[in-house]
Amino acid sequence: METVAPSAVIVAIDGPSGTGKSSTSKAVAAKLGLRYLDTGAQYRAITWWMITNGVDTADAQAVAIAAAKPVIVSGTDPSAPTITVDGLDASGPIRTQEVTSKVSAVSAVPEVRTLITELQRSIAARAAEEAEGIVVEGRDIGTTVLPAADLKIFLTASAEARAARRSGELRGKEASDLAATKQALLQRDAADSGRKTSPLAMAGDAVEVDTTELTLDQVIECVVTLVEEKMAGRK
Ligand code: DC
Repeated sequence: METVAPSAVIVAIDGPSGTGKSSTSKAVAAKLGLRYLDTGAQYRAITWWMITNGVDTADAQAVAIAAAKPVIVSGTDPSAPTITVDGLDASGPIRTQEVTSKVSAVSAVPEVRTLITELQRSIAARAAEEAEGIVVEGRDIGTTVLPAADLKIFLTASAEARAARRSGELRGKEASDLAATKQALLQRDAADSGRKTSPLAMAGDAVEVDTTELTLDQVIECVVTLVEEKMAGRK
């Protein structure tokens, strides 16, 4: 029988925006000494490249033709995750409102998904080979990217709670009000859930964690416990 180092656990954390996915995934990875991959940042990075290179992000064919051009590199240290595009630090520009409003269209293009999925699988495979394990967060990790992940978690929260959290994050950075944030968030959810290729969905074998009434610390504790139980079961 194949033996797998207990530390080489692969954890998939999916869910819509505003559920605390990034903060939870990063903290869980840091606590357990695992690597961390933000797959949304990769879709944002390719979107930023399209914008800065004059590709019309509403033109799926133009996006498909250009998809293989940018070189996206993700650093997987949970205490200092990085993302570069063609060697340039993209961590700031990928969080602008312009990228946020265009990323759903770009990430719905099948050619983009194929390339980014391959990249994600290679990063997860390297973590497993090097016996470090990884927490991968996104929308389709448990269903499509890593269907054989050791543990799949699907974070949910009410639309009100998610909009309030997102609004809090944006405050001071870009003008936002709660109603507009909620509308933008629901629009992005609908696009991400409704696209043909690997939509946002909960895997049949995922554990659903509703974070509406939980603090971030409580969510982190809950997920750490689930991962520890899984790791203990594999020893
Ligand atoms: O998690 P985020 O808000 O940074 O993700 C940005 C967008 O990227 C999201 O609206 C949909 C897309 N995405 C995706 O299609 N698949 C993933 N695994 C992660 C993100």
